[in-house]
Amino acid sequence: MGLVRSMINLSYFLVFLSSFCLEFGHSTDTITALNFIKDSETIVSNGGRFLLGFFSPPNSTYRYVGIWYAGDSTTRAIWVANRNKPLKTTSGILTISEDGNLAVLDGEKTILWSSYVTSSASNMSARLLDTGNLVLQENTTGLFTWESFQHPSDSWFADMKLGTNATTGKNVRLTSWKSPSDPAVGTFSFGTYSFNLPEMYIWNGSSPYFRSGPWNGMIFIGSPTKKARYAHKVLPEQDKDGSSYFAFDFSNGSAQGHVVLNAEGNLLETSFNGTDWVDTFIALMSECDVYGKCGEFGNCNPKNKPICSCLEGFEPKNIEEWSREDWTSGCVRRTPLQCMRINTGGQEGKKDGFSKVKMMQTPSLANWSSVYLVEDECRYGCLEDCSCLGYAYVTGIGCMVWTRDLIDLRKVPGGGVDLYVRLAYSDLDKKEEVKVIVIVTVIIGIVFMAVCTLFLCRWRAKRKEGRHQGFQCEENLVDNMNQDKLQELPIFSLEELASATNNFHPSNKLGQGGFGPVYKGKLLHGQEIAVKRLARNSGQGLEEFKNEVIVISKLQHRNLVRLFGGCVEGEEKLLVYEYMPNKSLDTFLFDSIKQELLDWKKRFHIIEGIGRGLLYLHRDSRLKIIHRDLKASNILLDEELNPKISDFGMARIFGGNEDQANTKRVVGTYGYMSPEYAMEGRFSEKSDVFSFGVLLLEIVSGRKNTHFYHDEGSVSLLGLAWKMWNIDNLAALVDPKISGSGFEKEILRCIHVGLLCVQEFAKDRPTIPIVISMLRSEIVDLPYPRQPGFAINQIITDNEFYYPNQKVCSINNVTVSMVHGR
Ligand SMILES: *[C@@H]1O[C@H](CO)[C@@H](O)[C@H](O)[C@H]1NC(C)=O
Ligand SMILES: *[C@@H]1O[C@H](CO)[C@@H](O)[C@H](O)[C@H]1NC(C)=O
Ligand SMILES: *[C@@H]1O[C@H](CO)[C@@H](O)[C@H](O)[C@H]1NC(C)=O
Ligand SMILES: *[C@@H]1O[C@H](CO)[C@@H](O)[C@H](O)[C@H]1NC(C)=O
Ligand SMILES: *[C@@H]1O[C@H](CO)[C@@H](O)[C@H](O)[C@H]1NC(C)=O
Ligand SMILES: *[C@@H]1O[C@H](CO)[C@@H](O)[C@H](O)[C@H]1NC(C)=O
Ligand SMILES: *[C@@H]1O[C@H](CO)[C@@H](O)[C@H](O)[C@H]1NC(C)=O
Ligand SMILES: *[C@@H]1O[C@H](CO)[C@@H](O)[C@H](O)[C@H]1NC(C)=O
Repeated sequence: MGLVRSMINLSYFLVFLSSFCLEFGHSTDTITALNFIKDSETIVSNGGRFLLGFFSPPNSTYRYVGIWYAGDSTTRAIWVANRNKPLKTTSGILTISEDGNLAVLDGEKTILWSSYVTSSASNMSARLLDTGNLVLQENTTGLFTWESFQHPSDSWFADMKLGTNATTGKNVRLTSWKSPSDPAVGTFSFGTYSFNLPEMYIWNGSSPYFRSGPWNGMIFIGSPTKKARYAHKVLPEQDKDGSSYFAFDFSNGSAQGHVVLNAEGNLLETSFNGTDWVDTFIALMSECDVYGKCGEFGNCNPKNKPICSCLEGFEPKNIEEWSREDWTSGCVRRTPLQCMRINTGGQEGKKDGFSKVKMMQTPSLANWSSVYLVEDECRYGCLEDCSCLGYAYVTGIGCMVWTRDLIDLRKVPGGGVDLYVRLAYSDLDKKEEVKVIVIVTVIIGIVFMAVCTLFLCRWRAKRKEGRHQGFQCEENLVDNMNQDKLQELPIFSLEELASATNNFHPSNKLGQGGFGPVYKGKLLHGQEIAVKRLARNSGQGLEEFKNEVIVISKLQHRNLVRLFGGCVEGEEKLLVYEYMPNKSLDTFLFDSIKQELLDWKKRFHIIEGIGRGLLYLHRDSRLKIIHRDLKASNILLDEELNPKISDFGMARIFGGNEDQANTKRVVGTYGYMSPEYAMEGRFSEKSDVFSFGVLLLEIVSGRKNTHFYHDEGSVSLLGLAWKMWNIDNLAALVDPKISGSGFEKEILRCIHVGLLCVQEFAKDRPTIPIVISMLRSEIVDLPYPRQPGFAINQIITDNEFYYPNQKVCSINNVTVSMVHGR
């Protein structure tokens, strides 16, 4: 008996000892084929933060292998291995199986779960890291062949990247549990979705359930600023291999925490402080956060009752459903879009416009445009494109446009962006017009009051019979009015400009433009300027000229030369520009030494810049300007060789009514003029496109269009380019001075675009926004060009043919103005 008892005691002791040894042995962080763990045993990460072992979820008797925080008595698992195949007994083990994978086996040694890495052999071990990552490691090389962070459950940790791996194509997402007591894969998942701009989505099955909105560099647009704390921890990253993902970053956080996608599909930020769990952020706060709650063109605002309303200019698609608060059908447009092309001119009043909606989450599936760098360009780019239904210009992102029905619109209290929704003219809010009326009324009021004051002043003065006092009063008033006007007018005095240019001394002359000579000058405070002294008899009145100067001086774009102001005194009319130290493009392009300073990158930069400047001129709402005299000598270069278009207001100052499609006065330069403009005086944006095309070909080839290329069997650069296109040898056009290889495709593409710009018929030529998209390879398949407009050569060779009644003032590179006898 005593022996039996002592044996039992001994066996207890042995069991105790062995379990002690095992516990002791497993206080490491590693599992191997020999050092496996059984139910009730755990391993601990080497910093002591996490445990790996067997657990049962609340209200469940099933056993799972999982990871949880050390010290968490509830064993709330942050990762689960055998999610879909629970152990029904406590006889399971976690080990390295014969094929080298980490595996969960039941009592019969059946594999319930495995890491399923095919390449594995022997000598593998699994290690629990203090980040919460469980890794399968090759013992000899130390390489991770599998990581739990690439196969997450419902929890997102610092160092864990959600997104798509470009190498493997695998999309790493969180998946919810079925229920709090069942870790099996539920219907919800959470991860990144990249449609042009990466965002985070929650899906219910395969349908979007929640969107974060795109990342603007600081936060997700859909997060209210109050919740931004959470967002600051999430950072988009781009890997060398092209993978893009969001990483969750706790480096600046105090708490130990992570993000959980719960069984109801909500996203919580939660942290464990050693004893308790604290939830600090919830993604879905209201019904409005549910994707597409109010349907297409419906706007959700949780503060409203009912929460859904149609955007301005839209009405419920199904009124009956809508009144039952079933929003799924969304809203439809009251008035179909006109989508008038701007360049058809006329009836501009009927053009579509935009209504502004403030503090919005951006709709889903945005296209991001890298062409339009400033808000104005974004707006006109959208307006010009009939498929564009709205845009938003967002700091940190740029120009977002939508070409499909707008969905998932919601108000973001204290956050969001201004969204512009395209509407037919008749649906536009006419508040702006009301504003103008109000302003006009106020101005009339002020004038009225001023007049009254004046009278009152006189009347008082008379009453006091103090004439002197009365005069002063009047004078002050007049003085103030002048002061106001002067502040607005960028007008210089002739004396000022004469002294700045040393009395227009010939040594200060920078060049001779078509409209008159240009002088370098220096104002009293040291500012360098260029002064253009216009030829007389412009045919424009004094007031008109002044108004033009005011208007044009307000145009600002980094690819336009800044007009500081003007001067009119007597017969003299002068324009004052910013001074460009590097002079004009032609001085580089057609100079065999300076040519070498322009490598391909610089040339492309110049081409793009000119395109941009032109876009601004063509598409600016307040003032549409057709340059009419685009050429290399009108492209000035700043210190860094950034191109700036000059003389862009000249056509306007001289041209009279530029809204007409015809003009009697042809302003332009041979070699750059489109046939319809040179021959019939018809001009449009497309005539500028033609000149741009010529310029582009000149920049790529380093040759002047007006030069004769007899030895190559052509009378002009355009002719040569067309010839080379037809014999499929565009490379022969490229300036041999363009150094650096690797750009051949881009260069040939440029020539192709140039040929499209110089096509004979204006209707065949692309508009400037399209040209820019083509240059940037956003439009990949370029159409075949048709024959260029050769009228230019014929003008030179057969002048009489085109200008039977005209006197040609000059040929070559100087602008000619002449009156067309039509
Ligand atoms: C477990 O069951 C009890 C009683 O049915 C219930 O009150 C509790 O909410 C359940 N817990 C979970 C996590 O499901
Ligand atoms: C396993 O690892 C040990 C040392 O870690 C090494 O000596 C042995 O060659 C390895 N075996 C295999 C098959 O790689
Ligand atoms: C793996 O390496 C660890 C130390 O790096 C060693 O203790 C262990 O024995 C090795 N396991 C195998 C199977 O070689
Ligand atoms: C993508 O997968 C490859 C192969 O598994 C891996 O080496 C790489 O680190 C992964 N990239 C990211 C960003 O996780
Ligand atoms: C998720 O989708 C299922 C099936 O479409 C649906 O029955 C369920 O209501 C959805 N859940 C939520 C929270 O929308
Ligand atoms: C950490 O957060 C504080 C305040 O929340 C902030 O001032 C600081 O710049 C942050 N540091 C880093 C490295 O992000
Ligand atoms: C953890 O949080 C709970 C509830 O907020 C609090 O009662 C407890 O004192 C905290 N424990 C520690 C160690 O901070
Ligand atoms: C919008 O982006 C998608 C995906 O990048 C592209 O397929 C589509 O052509 C784009 N649409 C427009 C109008 O730019």
